[in-house]
Amino acid sequence: MLPANFHKQLVEEGFCYLDMPTSLKQDIVTLFDLTAEFFELPQAQKNLISWEDVMTGYRSIGIEYSATPDNPDLNESFSYKNIEEARVFNDKFLYARTFLNQVRQVYLQMDKIATEVIVHLADIYTKNARHINTDLHSWLQLNCYRPYLHKREFLQDEHEDGHIVTIITANQKGLELRGNRDYHAVKGSLDELVVMPGELLALLTGNDIQPLYHRVRNHQDIKHRTAMMYFCNPNTNEGPLMPWVENDTNRQIDIIARATSNPSRYGLPVL
Ligand SMILES: [Fe+2]
Repeated sequence: MLPANFHKQLVEEGFCYLDMPTSLKQDIVTLFDLTAEFFELPQAQKNLISWEDVMTGYRSIGIEYSATPDNPDLNESFSYKNIEEARVFNDKFLYARTFLNQVRQVYLQMDKIATEVIVHLADIYTKNARHINTDLHSWLQLNCYRPYLHKREFLQDEHEDGHIVTIITANQKGLELRGNRDYHAVKGSLDELVVMPGELLALLTGNDIQPLYHRVRNHQDIKHRTAMMYFCNPNTNEGPLMPWVENDTNRQIDIIARATSNPSRYGLPVL
């Protein structure tokens, strides 16, 4: 499903659109309906499924930030990381079971796309790359925005995500990408996915593909915006990860250690 010019787009534009597969779109439409229901639950019920020590779970506004801790991201979120599934697939959270099942189903499909991206790119740079499994320490995150409630110009300040790639879709406008030319406004449609390179991909490619900085603009005419991100990370228990291209930008950097610590840049638990 990757376009023929996928690598060129990442290098020259800084990002690349993918067509949304039909069956995945149906699953994401269902997931977004369930997500809307989840975020409408009473705060006390959402808090039951919230933890500080793991990525998985609900987070209210004011915890995660993109640039500085004094400017929190203006969205609630729910995250799911496969290796932490025991936290949520638990009899205590039967009220959210349909939602959680759908999250897990979409997670597995997104991981297949992420794997296709990584295998495709690795093959361009080297014939000796070890396979990178991503199905344990990547996480799927659903962000719920209510733009009309906020006065700030940006709901998330400019940042890069710090993963191999982020694969994102949203049902409304707001996401702006700082490509290699100028800011590009993503229209916000479930007909497309956007692949956004992160710091780990820059480390793997000797900075040939650079991290994509992006932000979320506040459009106050929008009542609800839902965004879904697959934050793709290498499994951290499968040994060291050598760069595909080694040069002065990545020599002696431990990519697995960087992957593990990067979420703490945004107020989140380490991998
Ligand atoms: Fe981001």
